Amino acid sequence: MNVADSEVVASVLGEEHYEVTNDESEADLVLINTCSIRDNAEKRIWNRLDALKHNKKINPELKVGVIGCMAERLGGKLAENKLVSLVAGPDSYRKLPGMLTMADKGDPAIDTELSKEETYAGILPKRLEENAFGGFVSISRGCNNFCTYCIVPYTRGRERSRNPEDVMSEVQELINTGHKEITLLGQNVNSYHYKTDEADIDFPDLLKSVSKLDTTVRIRFTTSHPKDISDKLIETIAENDNICNHIHLPVQSGSSRMLKLMNRKYDRDWYMERIQKIHEFIPNCGITTDIFCGFHDETEVDHQQTLSLMKEVGFDWAFMFKYSEREGTYAAKHLKDNVPEETKTKRLQEIIALQQELSIKSNKADIGKKFAVLAEGVSKKSDQELFGRNEQNKVIVFPKGNYNPGDYVQVKVFDCSSATLKGSLVE
Ligand code: 5AD
Ligand code: SF4
Repeated sequence: MNVADSEVVASVLGEEHYEVTNDESEADLVLINTCSIRDNAEKRIWNRLDALKHNKKINPELKVGVIGCMAERLGGKLAENKLVSLVAGPDSYRKLPGMLTMADKGDPAIDTELSKEETYAGILPKRLEENAFGGFVSISRGCNNFCTYCIVPYTRGRERSRNPEDVMSEVQELINTGHKEITLLGQNVNSYHYKTDEADIDFPDLLKSVSKLDTTVRIRFTTSHPKDISDKLIETIAENDNICNHIHLPVQSGSSRMLKLMNRKYDRDWYMERIQKIHEFIPNCGITTDIFCGFHDETEVDHQQTLSLMKEVGFDWAFMFKYSEREGTYAAKHLKDNVPEETKTKRLQEIIALQQELSIKSNKADIGKKFAVLAEGVSKKSDQELFGRNEQNKVIVFPKGNYNPGDYVQVKVFDCSSATLKGSLVE
């Protein structure tokens, strides 16, 4: 999401003749696009600001700004750091040129106003990664779900769906510039809904239209909320070959009691029913998730339920975290952060160890199977090997042969670790 937002920022500033550099020491302006989801994400930014003091010593003209969720959350507090002369929240990027002029005059420029309408319509993002074969397109902004632990609805504001015409033209632009895989982005893509007098478009409609633009280009999407993943969506994935058979479906916890405290609006049975439906319609679908442990009042029984759900689903991969209390959320006000740090650490270790086993099991089951892999680059270990991903989003390393990054390659898997498959070329 932040990569996509940084591309909007690069486009806005590009109009003002700013150019992007990959060499930090060359920059006159450093904008740090931030995440507030957990405390450690914010700690990294404070460290980054410390490190930039050195750059400022070498280049006294250097301007530093903080943008994104942390800017939204902390506003003026960030500008107390002498290095920071600009603070812009996620809905303020159109105003950046004016803000930079203001910062030039000496006062820090701060804008953290959230908007109910801003979708950056009419701004064609400037792609930051040259030679990339995958690109991101935002389809919605913000979130209305108010999971009790989560800061996102406060930092990114209310949910807004983007005009489908803008989405389609951004996807087309990526296709025209040689991208082979496009990921549609939103905090909750399944609640995408664009309604005018002429049109009434939901996420499966949009996904299908996008996938028809060029059937040789793969389409992915993230993130899906389990409460909103409809039969229509599952069927749309099943029916369209270039929509990847992979669903990232954050479960958060396997305990219905915890899910209620989290305000997730589904329970374990609902989640398991959705998984069954996915298996039924898309037998080879990759399923990945987000899980976090140690939320308010989580007991050993709740934790065991998370482990048992993980086994029952057999996730291919998971992002796993410890609960981090975020100031301003419902949980920070009403649901005490009362699981001791050692317990959180122990539970997270158990979750990670189990996922390791599940990933190995899932990968071993792929040995002997053939996959179409989009080659993304040269393997770190050998320049005679390429790496890429299959539809299920698993990384596969294979011999280079006559192929180049950007090619689709047929690969047969013969070995694996928990993180990677190894394959040979299928002639
Ligand atoms: N603490 C820990 N993890 C969190 N997530 C969201 N908020 C928190 C929090 N306060 C996790 C959820 C979400 C992912 C993006 O981050 O698992 O799906
Ligand atoms: Fe946060 Fe819940 Fe919205 Fe995801 S759905 S961004 S976890 S509030």
